[in-house]
This record gives sequence, C-alpha cells and structure tokens, in this order.
Amino acid sequence: MFTHNGKIYLFANWKMYLDYDESNILANALARGAKKFGDKIQMAIFPSALSLYPVGQVLRDVGIGVGAQNVYWVDKGGYTGEVSAAMYRAVGCEYTLIGHSERRHQFGETDHDVREKMKAALASGLTPVLCVGETEQQRNTGKTEEVVEVQLRAAFDGLNWPKDKELIVAYEPVWAIGAGVACDPDEAMRMHELIIKICKNLIKNSDPVVLYGGSVRPNNVVGYLSQPAIDGVLVGAASTKLDEWLEIISAAQEL
Ligand code: PGA
Repeated sequence: MFTHNGKIYLFANWKMYLDYDESNILANALARGAKKFGDKIQMAIFPSALSLYPVGQVLRDVGIGVGAQNVYWVDKGGYTGEVSAAMYRAVGCEYTLIGHSERRHQFGETDHDVREKMKAALASGLTPVLCVGETEQQRNTGKTEEVVEVQLRAAFDGLNWPKDKELIVAYEPVWAIGAGVACDPDEAMRMHELIIKICKNLIKNSDPVVLYGGSVRPNNVVGYLSQPAIDGVLVGAASTKLDEWLEIISAAQEL
C-alpha cells in the first residue's frame, strides 16, 4: 500500500452484472459521492461495452476513470461482435482489462490473444490492466508461480513499454474469483512480490502497480490493502452494489 504516489487503486469490474439502466444509475450515484472519495483513491470502473460511453460521460468530470472489459486488436474490419482498442480509446476510455480469467477460461482466450491485445491497447493509448492467476488445480499441484510467470512472459513478450504508461497487473487467482473464498492476504502478498520482480525484469525501469482480485468484500479489503506489495484491488460482484462499494472505498480512505 502507498507505494505509488500515495494512491490506492480501487478498480471495479462490473462484468455482465448490470444492464444499461442499472449501470447509469450506479454511475450517477458514484459521481454524486466522488468529491468525498479524496485524492488518495484512484478509481476506475469497467462497465459493459454497451454502457461504457454514458458511464464515462458521467464519471469523467469527477475524476473516475473508465475501462473496457475486453478489446479486439485490429482497429477496424469484418470482426463481428468485437470492439477494438482504438474504438474504445476514441470515446474517452482510459483502461482495458486484458486476459481476465473469465475471458481465458470461458471464451478460450490464449496467451497469444493476450499479447496481441496488450500491443493494441498500448498502440491506441489505453492503459492495459493485465490479469493473471492460477486455477485451483494448478495451485493444488504446486504450479502457481510457474503459471503466473508464463502468463506474464507471454503478455509482455517483445513489447516496447511507453515511458509514461503505468504498468498495471491484477493478480486474480481463478479459484477465488466469484467464489466467496478469497486468497489469504499473505499468500497474495507473496505472489505480488513475485509479479513485481518478474515485471521489472521483463520491462526495464518499470514500476509495476499490482492489484489483488478475487472475492474482495468490505470485510476483507483492509487485509489486502495493508500489505505493502498490494497497491489496490480489482473487485467484481461487490463493486456492483452501491453500499458494498462505498464501504470498500471508506475502508481504503481510512488506511
Ligand atoms: P469477484 O471478481 O470480486 O466477483 O470475485 C473479481 C474479478 O473477476 O475481477
């Protein structure tokens, strides 16, 4: 905590939980409270593609960023159902999640796809939030470190990291996502240290920001944010409920 200019990163992945109206209602509620969040909180919301533009319009003026949940790497063309990194950037989007475990495991996204998306995000000016993490089976067979290292190496392979671009990775153990079973903060901390080390090796002079994700709730968020190598959290379900998200924000403010 506080390793990056005194900022705590609170990133909200709304996944496909909220429809258009629900997204706008929640964004407006956040915009109304935003002044009280303070400078310490670096917040970004990742709504559905359908809601991203109006949500971004509401949040832009109050200092809350918006990001895509996924991007395609070709700028334009015959790719039915896809939206490119460049298209998101053109409507004011700042970030994009890349390689979220639900993309990898439910939609078959490969390390190659992740690398292409990283490249396209950087080229379009988006800040990628690269998600990595091991499955339960990989964890049970002692492969956690190896799996995460392979994912990181593949994602950053040959990338020319722009000097002014934040390098953000989310450590999200697959078994902890949407499961109600969160990773022990000490265990997450060890993985964060490893991720920082690998990223510094892969991208020279980088200063990686590493977020924890997977069943973060108001009652466990302080455990993560109190760890020195955990710069913030990427929250799914709890970020879609106004009361829970506000509780997470106030817990972070009090640190
Ligand atoms: P969760 O999701 O907080 O609902 O576990 C986290 C994520 O997938 O980013």
